[in-house]
Amino acid sequence: MIMRLLKNLRNRRVLIGPFILFGLALVAFSVLTLTQSTAKAQEALVSTNPNDIAAGAVLYSEHCQSCHGYQGEGGVVGGAPALVDKGAAAANFYLTTGRMPLNAANNEAIRHHAFFNPAQIRELDAYINALPQITGIGGSGPTIPSVEPLCANQGTLAAQSEKGCVTLSEGQQLFSINCAQCHQAAGSGNILSNGNVIPSLNNANITQVAEAPLVGPKPMPIFTELSHAQISAIAQYVIYLHHAPNPGGFAIGRIGPVAEGFVAILGGFCLLWFAARMIGNRG
Ligand code: HEC
Ligand code: HEC
Repeated sequence: MIMRLLKNLRNRRVLIGPFILFGLALVAFSVLTLTQSTAKAQEALVSTNPNDIAAGAVLYSEHCQSCHGYQGEGGVVGGAPALVDKGAAAANFYLTTGRMPLNAANNEAIRHHAFFNPAQIRELDAYINALPQITGIGGSGPTIPSVEPLCANQGTLAAQSEKGCVTLSEGQQLFSINCAQCHQAAGSGNILSNGNVIPSLNNANITQVAEAPLVGPKPMPIFTELSHAQISAIAQYVIYLHHAPNPGGFAIGRIGPVAEGFVAILGGFCLLWFAARMIGNRG
């Protein structure tokens, strides 16, 4: 048996198949990881390349100008705000969450699949970022934020001495103070008393969570008092919530106490009904 294996090994043709397969898998894997990491690096950056800005200007004139004005001055169509001072963060947030472009100015800007591909979004971001220089008006708005990484020593005192990173506990505190009153403690969304829907944060990626407090998609306010590190901590915490374990048992979609109460009543009701039937049958 072993001899035969050795003989087969010596006969190299046997190995060609597995080798080719392994080689192909390796190439596919490296192409995937490489393109993914460059895509991430690009996402966090606003291009200042004149070609991107020019391509963005063309897209802008086709898809945005009719509402937001010739060069982002706004006011063409009722309710379409100026973009000249909104910065790349606003452009990127509204485009990657598919809120823009609107079909009609009175449509609601809600989350959709993105209308543009990532390269086009990058070009539009570059153009809107360059608007203050192009027009000579408007201060520059916030740029697309890069999110600081999580500290390696989560939950220990050592994390406090690490620099350039954030902790989940810090993120949790800041989230409960600033965001939970609307988005709920687990980020599952809510409905405001005037009927405004507050979206769940489960669909937002880390860049979008970091952008939202800088952009303030109405009726959400802009959080000028939060530092870059604090916003990073919140963003990391929200992404952690996407996969957080459920130590209390069923999460019921983490939709909060009302739903939990409802499930308890429904469950309890069924149990009582079952008990009543059992007693009834015996009687
Ligand atoms: C049919 C009209 C219309 C078109 C087309 C349109 N928008 Fe808008 N846009 C609006 C309106 C109205 C609002 C305000 C919506 C709101 O705040 O809920 C808005 C808001 C925005 C905002 C948020 C600005 C702020 O104050 O924070 C950005 C950024 C934006 N649009 C970018 C774009 C881009 C980029 C395009 C083209 C790809 C585009 N829009 C196309 C009507 C339009
Ligand atoms: C006053 C209530 C309120 C507070 C406080 C608030 N938000 Fe929001 N948030 C909203 C509403 C309403 C929207 C939807 C806006 C829209 O679609 O135009 C929203 C949208 C978002 C989105 C986009 C979600 C998506 O799927 O597109 C993110 C991300 C977000 N908020 C993060 C935060 C973070 C982080 C904080 C705390 C720093 C926060 N919000 C605080 C009301 C609030």
